[in-house]
Amino acid sequence: MRQATNNNSSRSFGGHNMDKNIEAKVVVITGASSGLGEAAARHLSVEGAVVVLGARCADRIRSLAETLMAQGGKAFALATDVTSPDQVKRLVDAAVDRLGRIDVMLNNAGLMPHSPLERLKIEDWNRTIDVNIKGVLYGIAAALPHMQRQKSGHIINVSSVAGHLVRPGSAVYSATKHAVRVISEGLRQEVKPYNIRSTIISPSAVATELPGSITEPDVAADIRQFYDTYAIPADSFARAVVFAISQPQDVDVNEILFRPTRQEL
Ligand SMILES: NC(=O)c1ccc[n+]([C@@H]2O[C@H](COP(=O)([O-])OP(=O)(O)OC[C@H]3O[C@@H](n4cnc5c(N)ncnc54)[C@H](OP(=O)(O)O)[C@@H]3O)[C@@H](O)[C@H]2O)c1
Repeated sequence: MRQATNNNSSRSFGGHNMDKNIEAKVVVITGASSGLGEAAARHLSVEGAVVVLGARCADRIRSLAETLMAQGGKAFALATDVTSPDQVKRLVDAAVDRLGRIDVMLNNAGLMPHSPLERLKIEDWNRTIDVNIKGVLYGIAAALPHMQRQKSGHIINVSSVAGHLVRPGSAVYSATKHAVRVISEGLRQEVKPYNIRSTIISPSAVATELPGSITEPDVAADIRQFYDTYAIPADSFARAVVFAISQPQDVDVNEILFRPTRQEL
């Protein structure tokens, strides 16, 4: 794969015209094997980004990388568990080794095993905190030194509408998504000397495999019904990512919150 460059010239890429601030940017995506991460990878690839895909399911991210390359894009995949700081660092370092830089770190991997606190699902609580909070921190730890050296970069962290409110059954998930917003705002303030942008994306119900992470059958049934009623396609998220990245370098879109139009809460 050729060294990635970061210019803003307009050219044709896989049949598409690129005039946004995305072309040839190196974008590392965690949780790229399904749902929002996969949709973002597909959209960014069409826009000319070089996408580096991380998730535990190696078959799925490799097959996605092959599909994107067959469509004229540039992509590679590396099996990554975001609960391991070493694996997240290996993913980001592989991007920098092969492509010369990292322009965007999309910390997207997450799970949502809702349940009332009284059910004492301590394993679920720990996994949620490990993936949704520590995974994001490990992504920041892996990307930040490179971006500081480059004096450029963009860290996008995926929170949720649940990062703005809490409902019965969502206490731990909401706590992790509140934490993502607080970490992101702290990061935003600290990285000013390095010309690094930071964005929080807070979706509400989007149709993905996320409800599959719920381990309590009755809770899962309720959430599935909610998603069946309200959820919008994952393209909605991908467009938000494209919007944030494609702004001119002096524009830092700090948060995007979106819901299905018909959703009340
Ligand atoms: N869908 C929604 O309604 C919604 C709303 C608000 C926020 N979000 C957030 O959006 C993000 C993406 O979720 P999604 O909706 O796209 O759900 P999804 O379809 O279930 O995708 C979750 C992704 O996270 C990855 N993942 C889970 N544990 C991981 C680990 N330990 N290491 C690496 N990757 C891991 C999964 O890949 P592997 O299993 O292959 O590792 C998968 O690619 C999450 O942070 C979620 O909280 C989603």
